[in-house]
Amino acid sequence: MIPQDFVDALLARLDIVDVIDRRVPLKKAGQNYQACCPFHQEKTPSFTVSPTKQFYHCFGCGAHGSAIGFLMAYEGLGFVEAVEVLAADAGLAVPQEQGARNRPRPAADLYDLMGQAARFYREQLKASPRAIQYLQKRGLTGEIAARYGLGYAPAAYEALAGAFADYQRAELGTIGLVIDDERGRRDRFRDRIMFPIRDIKGRIVGFGGRVLDRGEPKYLNSPETPLFSKGSEIYGLFEAKAAIREKNRVLVTEGYMDTVALAQFGANYAVATLGTATTSTHARILLRHADRVYYCFDGDNAGRKAAWRALENTLEALTDGKEVFFLFLPEGEDPDSYVRTRGVAALEALLDKEAVPLSVYLVKELAGEGMPQTAEARARVLKQAKPLLAKLAAPYLGRLVKKELSQRLGLGGPEGDRLLGRAPGGGSGRQAASPPTQILYRQLARLLVSEPSWVQQVDVAQVVEGEPYADRLAQLLGWLRDQAGMSPAALLEAARETPLEGELQALLGEAMEWGETFDVAEEFAGARRQMYDLWRRRRIEALSAKAVLSEEEGRELLELLRSAPI
Ligand code: UTP
Ligand code: MN
Repeated sequence: MIPQDFVDALLARLDIVDVIDRRVPLKKAGQNYQACCPFHQEKTPSFTVSPTKQFYHCFGCGAHGSAIGFLMAYEGLGFVEAVEVLAADAGLAVPQEQGARNRPRPAADLYDLMGQAARFYREQLKASPRAIQYLQKRGLTGEIAARYGLGYAPAAYEALAGAFADYQRAELGTIGLVIDDERGRRDRFRDRIMFPIRDIKGRIVGFGGRVLDRGEPKYLNSPETPLFSKGSEIYGLFEAKAAIREKNRVLVTEGYMDTVALAQFGANYAVATLGTATTSTHARILLRHADRVYYCFDGDNAGRKAAWRALENTLEALTDGKEVFFLFLPEGEDPDSYVRTRGVAALEALLDKEAVPLSVYLVKELAGEGMPQTAEARARVLKQAKPLLAKLAAPYLGRLVKKELSQRLGLGGPEGDRLLGRAPGGGSGRQAASPPTQILYRQLARLLVSEPSWVQQVDVAQVVEGEPYADRLAQLLGWLRDQAGMSPAALLEAARETPLEGELQALLGEAMEWGETFDVAEEFAGARRQMYDLWRRRRIEALSAKAVLSEEEGRELLELLRSAPI
């Protein structure tokens, strides 16, 4: 864990304009800087960088974030890596928080040892006609085998002694290349085709090994090690990174062979989860690399189960503007067999025409095809839907899914809202509330994330409960008070991976649309006034509606009625 203070200091020290300009040359345009967006194809620049907010935003594709976010998106780095790169540029050393829950940073030479083993396996492949023949039988060319660094682990018990001068060194156990037990030490992978697993920087962190003939297990994977954690690595991502960015989509399969075969046939934007359920970490990484994620599963029972798990874990990683699809292949097929028999064009046609958007899949799985017949069945749907909707981190999508479900269940708007809960993005509360309240509250939120220190001037007690967006605004106010004096970009980083992240990004993105003549201070004063007026009106209504007023309430009502709107 990198301490938040350090992230704040780092963002305060560097200038996002420099960071981006070094990678994507920028031109000054008014107060801001512009370029053609590096994240989508365009001819006229809509990618805008604000030096005052230390934030970038593309009006074309909606990409936005801080300098750290830019580096993550542009170079495909993880958060920690992006911070490290920026810190190095700024001449700062990255401190580690005490009691960090992260994996301890592995020593560099463990990676070297993995690389050495991979090289050894590659050489052994060249020397094994049987292994070469197996790969040929599976339709792979030498070129694709080389691109994925495929190798062969010989059948001998201590084959790796040929790769390492000291076969007994402890590190070989640490990185999972050997097994130690009462019989002594021996190679973990024997007589298997070896698929090296690379992390996003291209370093080998683990292996998957497939038997050549029949045998159990079919695939043997590296154990969890200081270098390798199944739940956060994605097979083939390093190899496919550039193609994924270019096509702006990624196809997620279940297998090593699927990934490699798809690349062989020209669908070079495929990756695989490593025989585990798709985790939210996987989903986050995938969504960072492309706007469209296609999960591809077998059309059997196991595939449907895996798809549902993937959906559950993707909800919390999803933001508005990203799309997730599910593709179910005909029973008995996997992507490998499918491209082999029908070709890549057929597979891509499936992706474009048959893949089911996450929202559709979600509603269909919950509610079935038509309206559930009995009240009991509808109640069951409600019960299952609520926690899932609460997890969904994309506010607009959340609202739309909720609406769809309400209709399916024959519930009216407010009733559906009440029963299904608010989408995290702040759904509508009271139906009667006028839409301008939401506009006002959201504008206040935008102003405050642009000028966080102004939060001291807003009284959270004057946010009228039950109004649309009121909960969100109140939550934001509370949170902003805790982050005293941060820049908008630092706020964004403080919110990373919290439920506020998506909302904050959206607000800052919208704030980027303010033109040169927009007077932020003036707008804020106006919004504050309107906020007070609204609260005053509602309070007067509430007090007047009471049958009996306490003495104190009576005094308050009189005062409110006397006081002019500010
Ligand atoms: P499959 O059994 O579907 O294999 O496992 P596959 O990908 O189609 O492989 P081929 O075509 O028979 O060579 C899917 C994935 O599940 C994991 C692997 O990651 C595999 O790619 N798996 C499967 C294991 O980890 N261990 C196993 O024993 C089997
Ligand atoms: Mn297969």
